[in-house]
Amino acid sequence: MPSSDVPDDRLPDIPDDGVPQDLPDDIRPFRAGEQVRLEDPKGRHHLVTLEPGRTFHTHRGGVALDELIGKPEGVVVTSSGGVPYLALRPLWSDYVLAMPRGATIVYPKDAGQILIAADIFPGAHVIEAGAGSGSLTCALLRAVGPTGRVTSYERRDDFALIARRNVERFFGESPSTWHLVVGDVAEAPTEPRADRIVLDLLAPWDCLPWAAATLRPGGVLCCYVATTTQLGRLVETVRAHGGFTEPISSETLVRTWHIEGLSIRPDHRMVGHTGFLMTTRRLAPGVTAPRRRRRPAPGAYGEDYTGPRPDAPSLTSEPSPAPTSPAPRASTPAENESCGHEADPKLAGRRTDDAVRPEQTAPEND
Ligand SMILES: C[S@@+](CC[C@H](N)C(=O)[O-])C[C@H]1O[C@@H](n2cnc3c(N)ncnc32)[C@H](O)[C@@H]1O
Repeated sequence: MPSSDVPDDRLPDIPDDGVPQDLPDDIRPFRAGEQVRLEDPKGRHHLVTLEPGRTFHTHRGGVALDELIGKPEGVVVTSSGGVPYLALRPLWSDYVLAMPRGATIVYPKDAGQILIAADIFPGAHVIEAGAGSGSLTCALLRAVGPTGRVTSYERRDDFALIARRNVERFFGESPSTWHLVVGDVAEAPTEPRADRIVLDLLAPWDCLPWAAATLRPGGVLCCYVATTTQLGRLVETVRAHGGFTEPISSETLVRTWHIEGLSIRPDHRMVGHTGFLMTTRRLAPGVTAPRRRRRPAPGAYGEDYTGPRPDAPSLTSEPSPAPTSPAPRASTPAENESCGHEADPKLAGRRTDDAVRPEQTAPEND
């Protein structure tokens, strides 16, 4: 007998047109107003809000949403055109991929990595910027739990509003552990100290003096950037600052697999590039990172290199003039707003309800 046919003794019979009254406590029936993920036989997901009396229309007939209210997760409803839909509550990844966006979100593969690389723990005080659309905010809030604290900075008030709506909808209320500030994180107060700082913005190097002043010794700074030029500038600025450990840089590739009998192979499509992660840890005040004893690649810091450089002659592989690069140039607001990673015009204003995601794979970051 297939496992799905195994009767669950705890589940009472569900009347066709009624709400079962005596469900066990751990089986939370769908309630009016919450979101549900409907999956069709081709594996396509639709996120819909359970509004009493409403019909979710598909090109293969309508699904009366009243049929789901009061039913447990994992039931199947059939559209008027005879297509079965599996109904489950959306996971965090379903929710963030379908929610309305202003700025491009942190995608699930990167969010998972950020939580571990930045070592987000229950009870942590985390500061993040920018809040953007609130995707990472939701993941951070869940990870710090009821005893932690997340302070999110977003300098665009229109994006802050989107983030607020998305976070409140995800949690069903405004989490008491969350503080959203509209403003530039580089100008944020440096007290109280943070355990972790996560930056997803165009010019994280501009925020390093603030991050150094705000992060407690041993605290983790994790930055998410979209391009190699950003990554290089960020890493070199962290090194030149001297108050952080040697940065670790990575990108995360997730490839799903097709498994069917003898046909076992990687899926043809995957989310290719999204961004890079850089993590580093704050040293004690006044302490400078011990110089790395390693020989750089030939020409790494040659005359064509114009970025920030650690004030350490042994890091150069060839004699080079005294450091010529000034402190990293502050980015202009116009530059910041034009960051492809930050703007998500394709999806801006898209309704969450009935949003159809054609594929499991998310759209790529611009
Ligand atoms: C890529 S988005 C962040 C997306 C967000 N992490 C999410 O998962 O939805 C970058 C955001 O950073 C904001 N931003 C850029 N520089 C900032 C700064 N110095 N302080 C605060 N927010 C900033 C931008 O307005 C933009 O909304």
